Amino acid sequence: MDLLKIIEERRSIRAFKSDPVPEDLVRQILAAAAQAPSAINLQPWEFVVVAGEERRRLSRRLLKAYREKNISCSPGNVKPLAATFTSRGVQSFEGMKPYLDEMGLDFNRFINEGSCNFYGAPVAVILCLDNAFSKARYVDVGIALGYLVLAAHHFGLHTCPIGLITAYEEDVKEALDIPQNKDVVISAALGYPDWESPVNRFRSSKEAPQTFVRWIE
Ligand SMILES: Cc1cc2nc3c(=O)[nH]c(=O)nc-3n(C[C@H](O)[C@H](O)[C@H](O)COP(=O)(O)O)c2cc1C
Repeated sequence: MDLLKIIEERRSIRAFKSDPVPEDLVRQILAAAAQAPSAINLQPWEFVVVAGEERRRLSRRLLKAYREKNISCSPGNVKPLAATFTSRGVQSFEGMKPYLDEMGLDFNRFINEGSCNFYGAPVAVILCLDNAFSKARYVDVGIALGYLVLAAHHFGLHTCPIGLITAYEEDVKEALDIPQNKDVVISAALGYPDWESPVNRFRSSKEAPQTFVRWIE
């Protein structure tokens, strides 16, 4: 498929079918993600693929941690955000809410519990970084995530990046036997969308470049 078409079509999916993803496809997607550029070609990312019963076990652990610690999805800002950004957050909430109302679901509960459950996707990919690297290398892992979500779309699979799990990093590490010297940077739910689910009709809006580009020439 044409790359621009993939970029245009890709959106985060928040209801997946339980149908398993062939291992070969997951391998091809991760191989594509690993083609991402990285500083000095360090390729600092490490992927942990969690599928089947292990994926469900991880989610049970995450849901337990969420109920105990009650940390929700949030922008994670360290200073108050400019109004432009907060209004985009409100737009996301307002845009998705009618679909969740149709499903009789509460927004916060759906997003937080859904994230812990990788929205029912059969595969979760956990992207890690050795903590010997500086935080600057998080950028490289982010680029790999970008490649991963686009490559998945190429293969007819869909994704949702899941950052919430980093709030429960210790639980993730223990459940998956990830060594203490690795940071859990981000994860992605990967699978086939349930197009019957109203929430998958939601499509996030994107700003036109003139709102965030400043040209100097
Ligand atoms: C770093 C990062 C973390 C994210 N974490 C979550 C998450 O924990 N739960 C969730 O439902 N979506 C999460 N998302 C998905 C975003 O909400 C989504 O990308 C955004 O609303 C734009 O929608 P789109 O992906 O459909 O373009 C995350 C996305 C990124 C890039």
